[in-house]
Amino acid sequence: MNGTTYIDHLAHRYGVQPEGQLNPFISRHDGQLYLDERICLNALAEQYGAPLEVSYLPLITKQIHQMQTYAAAARTAAGYTGAFVYAYATKANFAEEVVRTALQSGAHYETSSAADIIIAHQLWRQGVLPADRYMFCNGSKDLGYRKAILALRDAGHELLIPIVDDLDELAYLSSHCHVPMQFGVRVRFDIGDVDPDHPGGERFGLTHSEIDSAIAMLAGTQHRIVLYHAMVGSQIEDAHVWKIQLSAAVERYAAQAHKLPSLHMFNFGGGMPTDSYQLDFSFDCQAFLQTLMTALADACAEHGVAHPDLVGEFGRYTVGSHTVYLMEVGAVKAGRGGAPDWYLLNGSLMVSLPDTLIVAGQQFIILPLDEWHLPARPVRLAGRYTCDTDDFYPRPGQPPLLLPNGGEGMVLAFFGVGAYQQMLSGRGGAHHCLTPEMRRVIIEADGDQLVVRETPPQHLSDIMSVLGYNNATLDLGSRRDMQTAERTTVRSFRMPVKRSARMWKRTRPV
Ligand SMILES: Cc1ncc(COP(=O)(O)O)c(C=O)c1O
Repeated sequence: MNGTTYIDHLAHRYGVQPEGQLNPFISRHDGQLYLDERICLNALAEQYGAPLEVSYLPLITKQIHQMQTYAAAARTAAGYTGAFVYAYATKANFAEEVVRTALQSGAHYETSSAADIIIAHQLWRQGVLPADRYMFCNGSKDLGYRKAILALRDAGHELLIPIVDDLDELAYLSSHCHVPMQFGVRVRFDIGDVDPDHPGGERFGLTHSEIDSAIAMLAGTQHRIVLYHAMVGSQIEDAHVWKIQLSAAVERYAAQAHKLPSLHMFNFGGGMPTDSYQLDFSFDCQAFLQTLMTALADACAEHGVAHPDLVGEFGRYTVGSHTVYLMEVGAVKAGRGGAPDWYLLNGSLMVSLPDTLIVAGQQFIILPLDEWHLPARPVRLAGRYTCDTDDFYPRPGQPPLLLPNGGEGMVLAFFGVGAYQQMLSGRGGAHHCLTPEMRRVIIEADGDQLVVRETPPQHLSDIMSVLGYNNATLDLGSRRDMQTAERTTVRSFRMPVKRSARMWKRTRPV
């Protein structure tokens, strides 16, 4: 890079300055990286070491409130009279503190499995899931899922809306539910409208003639079809393409609502993009909602029906940004034949960020905590905790990664890891090459205080026991070594929120 510093590289590549806001949730002040202007990652790395997982739950609340603000502005601009319903797609992150935070921030609930409903049922009984929240139940429903839905409806949850994925599940649910049930129908996109690069979504939903059959099946019963679900895909990046793909569904909704007055909700599903993954990505959510509301309003005017309540199921958007991983460069190994050197991390990329392998082209924002003044150079990151040839980033075909020439000891922050990564990797399980899970610091707001909970790294004996070993079958050293006091301790403490001051500045660690 001819002596170009890392700061120059960021300015040139992303147009960001070394001090101030780097994107909506990352900033840098006095040479230190902050999450949401509040949490100094340098100070946390100094206090807890790396690898470290930092989850800052107020960012979830911020995302939800931000989208509700966009929707309110879009409604006004479009003269839209239907309500906006923000549902959290729990599949993105099922952690108790995450779901609880989304609900406390006003989100409704979207489920994908029997277990998901069972959790929701318990949260509803505890009052964590208020009775005025909708529950949208997606996915193909096996017997367990159907029974869990029926149990919750029987128990009295009235805003439960199973979204029918095939006629068999509708027949079962409608005949076994003895109180009125509201249903949704998920439209199966025409084969020509399915993105050949993402064919997996093709299997979901009902064809147009199956939707007609569903309507006929419920005619004369106490049940109603109230919702039309048209999900295009996940992490959509082009608003124009999204609008085109939704336009046929918008038109069909209005035509259908004219024939079926009980229909009063239009659900565009997941797919709302987030700026969590690339420093130079942004998406105008408000403009997208306004365009969709205008299209719905036009179609409704044409067919003489009311504007539907507009539902979105937000997964990545809700939780992508709230978690950061910190990993340290433990060693540098020379590349060969002109290829960049390897920065070997004290972790595993494929375990911590499985989407690097699963989602073609998936990127993450990776920034060093320090050394921004040093020359930048292309490097490849590799997970030192596995011996897997696929444990590296960037993936083939992706742009080269430039980092400071700092090498060993540098701590890197991996942003945007709060959605899907832990669910895919399996939180608390045995991982590839027995990579232990990192120390976890969870920070949440409680009134005017921040509550900080620390969970120690996964202990080897816990991993062994998941795999069926016990200390008697494996000689892993003395039992005492295996059961350090740290193993089960969850430490937590409270600290006042000082609105004006940034938390955990490195000069004043807690
Ligand atoms: C039915 C449904 N709703 C919502 C989502 C969440 O999508 P995203 O994370 O893109 O918001 C998904 C993701 O697979 C989904 O299948």
